[in-house]
Amino acid sequence: MSGHAQPARRKKSFPATMGISTRAIHGRKLFAYRGPVAEPIVQTTTYRFADSTDALRYAQGDPDVYVYTRYHNPTVHEAQDRLALMMGSAEVLLLSSGMAAITSAILSVAKTGDEILSTSSLYGGTYRFFRDILPRYGVKVRYVPPGRLEAVREMATKKTALVYCETPTNPTLSIVDIASLVHNVRKASARARRRIPIILDNTFATILNQNPFAFGVDVVVESATKYLGGHTDLMAGVVAGSSRFITGVHTQMKYLGGCADPFAAYLLLRSLKTFELRVLKQNANAMALAEFLEHHPRVKRVLYPGLPSHPDHATARAQMTGAGGAGYGGMVTIEVSGGVRGAVRVCDSLRVAVNAMSLGGVETLVSIPVYSSHVHMSASELSRQGVTPGMVRISAGIEAWDDLRDDFDRALRKTR
Ligand SMILES: Cc1ncc(COP(=O)(O)O)c(C=O)c1O
Repeated sequence: MSGHAQPARRKKSFPATMGISTRAIHGRKLFAYRGPVAEPIVQTTTYRFADSTDALRYAQGDPDVYVYTRYHNPTVHEAQDRLALMMGSAEVLLLSSGMAAITSAILSVAKTGDEILSTSSLYGGTYRFFRDILPRYGVKVRYVPPGRLEAVREMATKKTALVYCETPTNPTLSIVDIASLVHNVRKASARARRRIPIILDNTFATILNQNPFAFGVDVVVESATKYLGGHTDLMAGVVAGSSRFITGVHTQMKYLGGCADPFAAYLLLRSLKTFELRVLKQNANAMALAEFLEHHPRVKRVLYPGLPSHPDHATARAQMTGAGGAGYGGMVTIEVSGGVRGAVRVCDSLRVAVNAMSLGGVETLVSIPVYSSHVHMSASELSRQGVTPGMVRISAGIEAWDDLRDDFDRALRKTR
């Protein structure tokens, strides 16, 4: 490695027809390439200049000079390029966490006096950022009533900086109709005579199960801590979009400091190679769990977009067919009797599934939303987001199906 060549800016073309695993494994090194098979970790904070001409080149805006890892790093660039290939995005920026990605993307657009229109069911961290932090900077968030996406047209004003959306939502797994949202935002944009960007959090689905760009979404954000990382051992976040948009987010990242660590980027590169394998198995385990638990006598309700009983199943079927196939994701939410005490009893009785927060890893995890993602929310906030105390959120891992089935069956029967 020359130490100064910036791979993200020297893009070799790549056949668009290649499968997602091929892209994830080989990146642009698919053709004649001499070098290590596994990616090196460039674990440095700063870079030697050959002489001060390099410093001058940097000062004059030459993008090919590496200066400081908070600005750019070769391992981080490699991970970004790999993700851009997988997601079919012009550019990707890797940040230190999903929240760093979401907040930096939003702050690159919204300024004092602006408004954000958002769908109402959101990851708790995003919701709290909207509720507690943005108003301090004079940015207001208004929520589009669920199931009434056409309301975006009347709600959009000249203050509307962006439209934010998450689907499937956490933890109720309700589905926002992406095509309809895009259609209504475009109508609002036409009236406003400017394009209002749409940012979508694709963490629960991932690019394998849902491709928001295919519907005209402008920017995709994702917690790479979850399925992209997949081994519960790295924190990272992704913003994917046009070069212009990513340049703006990069500036925010540079000064807010949410840069990705080179070691996390290396772990992510390793993880991406098995991304498709893992997520396909997680999809299959989640579907099998949803079907099994739907008929279980101790389960009151199962929420999984792949079940025909799910209220948004038709929309999920239409839009959850991403770059690699037609899965409905690895997340299943169940409701058990006895409120939060019932949920606690189930979680404490499982042996294979792990009682822990987060999601998307190879191990099955369970968590209770009112104690985790939706803690410290009022009864009316919980009801607006459709969250009840007896809910248990399951992130299906890749364990043998029989072991998972027996584990949930035993834990549920024990907790009469
Ligand atoms: C849907 C969703 N978006 C964003 C995040 C934030 O990601 P991170 O924890 O990597 O900051 C999470 C975390 O649970 C999430 O579930």
